[in-house]
Amino acid sequence: MALVDVSRIPQHVAIIMDGNGRWAQAQSKPRTAGHERGADAVRATMRAARRLGIPSLTLYAFSEQNWDRPEGEINALVDLLCECLVSERNELLDNEIRLSAIGRLHKLPQHAQNRLLELSAETKSCKGMTLTLALSYGGREELTDAARALASAARDGEIKPDEIDEAAIDRFLPSMDVGPVDLLIRTGGERRISNFLLWGSAYAELYFTDELWPDFGANSLYCAIGDFQGRQRRFGLLPELEQDATARKASRELERAV
Ligand code: FPP
Repeated sequence: MALVDVSRIPQHVAIIMDGNGRWAQAQSKPRTAGHERGADAVRATMRAARRLGIPSLTLYAFSEQNWDRPEGEINALVDLLCECLVSERNELLDNEIRLSAIGRLHKLPQHAQNRLLELSAETKSCKGMTLTLALSYGGREELTDAARALASAARDGEIKPDEIDEAAIDRFLPSMDVGPVDLLIRTGGERRISNFLLWGSAYAELYFTDELWPDFGANSLYCAIGDFQGRQRRFGLLPELEQDATARKASRELERAV
């Protein structure tokens, strides 16, 4: 088992869950069987993240581009999501996990939107971890929506164009509610970000694994975090200045919070 230093846990882990289809193909099963096993991997990863004390876990569950998949596969994914939102209710509540969702959620079927809203409301005071599902999500789409909302706010006199800085943009990006990504994991062998959390991943450490998502689990997460902990984060600075940068970042976040 990989060694994890629990005193240096990444605050925000985001995962591109890839490889369900290939996993199914390798087993001569339909793609939907891969997604079902993928849901088991979601459960195992969520539990492991909670046990480690990771404050935020964001999962790329359905991209804007996934709408181009065959209708049968889309319906199976939506059904699976709805089933999980029912079956995992107690797991979330018992483990103090707050559910959140980002993306163009209005494009989801109404019953899925309702279930998401209900479980988000039920878990809203859970403080142990925030589990964010990115659904009908795209990083460029999120930035586009934020630009539109900022322009409207400027037109309505709610913000002056000169006041638009990074912190203002953060406030218009739902994905930034849980802060920037520290560790971005992608399974399935591809080495791409695929339009996920483009703004928040600016300084994320990237971790790619060939493991297919249905095979991912607690130990895979420990390996990714162990690897993350072996890296030196620089935030664009020289190594000896890294500590200062971390301190500056923390004080900037404190300023924003007050
Ligand atoms: C990518 O695999 C995965 C997805 C498009 C969907 C992720 C969905 C799940 C893990 C299932 C359930 C999720 C929740 C939150 C309940 P792929 O189909 O692109 O795999 P391939 O690249 O091998 O074809």
